[in-house]
Amino acid sequence: MNSYDIAVIGGDGTGPEVTREALKVLQAAAGKFGFRLNFVEFDFGGARYLRTGEALPDSAVDELRRFPAVLLGAIGHPEVKPGVLEKGILLRLRFELEQYINLRPVKLYDERFCPLKDKRPEDVDFVVVRENNEGLYTGSGGFVFKGTPHEVAIQESVNTRRGVERCLRFAFEYTRKRNRRNTLTLCGKTNVLTYAFDLWERAFYEIGERDFPGIKCDYAHVDATTMWFVKNPEWFDVIVTDNMFGDIITDLGAMVQGGMGIAAGGNLNPEGTSMFEPIGGSAPKYTGQNVINPLAAICAGQMMLDFLGETAAAAAVEQAVIRVTRENVKELGAGKMGLSTSQVGDLVAQSL
Ligand code: IPM
Ligand code: MN
Repeated sequence: MNSYDIAVIGGDGTGPEVTREALKVLQAAAGKFGFRLNFVEFDFGGARYLRTGEALPDSAVDELRRFPAVLLGAIGHPEVKPGVLEKGILLRLRFELEQYINLRPVKLYDERFCPLKDKRPEDVDFVVVRENNEGLYTGSGGFVFKGTPHEVAIQESVNTRRGVERCLRFAFEYTRKRNRRNTLTLCGKTNVLTYAFDLWERAFYEIGERDFPGIKCDYAHVDATTMWFVKNPEWFDVIVTDNMFGDIITDLGAMVQGGMGIAAGGNLNPEGTSMFEPIGGSAPKYTGQNVINPLAAICAGQMMLDFLGETAAAAAVEQAVIRVTRENVKELGAGKMGLSTSQVGDLVAQSL
């Protein structure tokens, strides 16, 4: 029997509540499809930071390395200054575990949840491959004359040939494997960012033409991309982009698929430890009320199963989520589901 050790970081706010439901569904899937999941919990997050003064203990990254996957609830605490936990936990793990891909599917499960007029599930089904280790997120840059009237702040976008190529290669392979419309769109800003996206664009066509003749290469500026997400989402199959643009367009993507209640993502290191998370935040005001939507966390678990190779179980979880969203959930927002957090988890688990 296949057996997987999974690290679980419930984290802050509603993170632990939604994670509990994800674990419930994952255990049910493991029972049904005949594999074992051994969950090991870690208490990283705002509460621990406030208690100990450190965002992550130094041993954390090495401890997590022995797991093929981490399931993360949410990071963000109202009493901790913005940036401390994001940088100290989330970004640190993404960087040190070399999770160089952030994979964010944008898929509409029911027409009722789409804010766009006349768009159906078959129109909203694309995936964003976001570079996850470079760009504006490296922390490169600094201040000169900070705090004076002459101060200068520089924040640099780092784009290495190696980092860009491995991201593009993953995106091409993913597009081929997905085999939907076999189209990969590079989302950039070649008309203004003439160094960074020049490198991206050259590497994109080089790799595409040389190694992926069956994949159609397309290009869109990031501003136009946001326009088309709203106007013609059906044009997209797989989109590849840098870290910052990927961050921005995937929030828009999340809204197009029905909101943060349903949007999930995976931080992937195909050779190491990957980390799966609902992409909404810790929603502190709903903490402990049993009203937050756990579907995004359940979908993160579904992506994890798929990534681990338990593809039949992953497909079953997705079908269960689709059934429950169509038949049981009134709205996807917190407090509007017509069901509690734990009822949604129960329904998905039963529906497997
Ligand atoms: C996300 C988040 C993070 C990011 C923040 C919390 C650092 O917005 O996962 O998209 O910018 O990547
Ligand atoms: Mn974001």
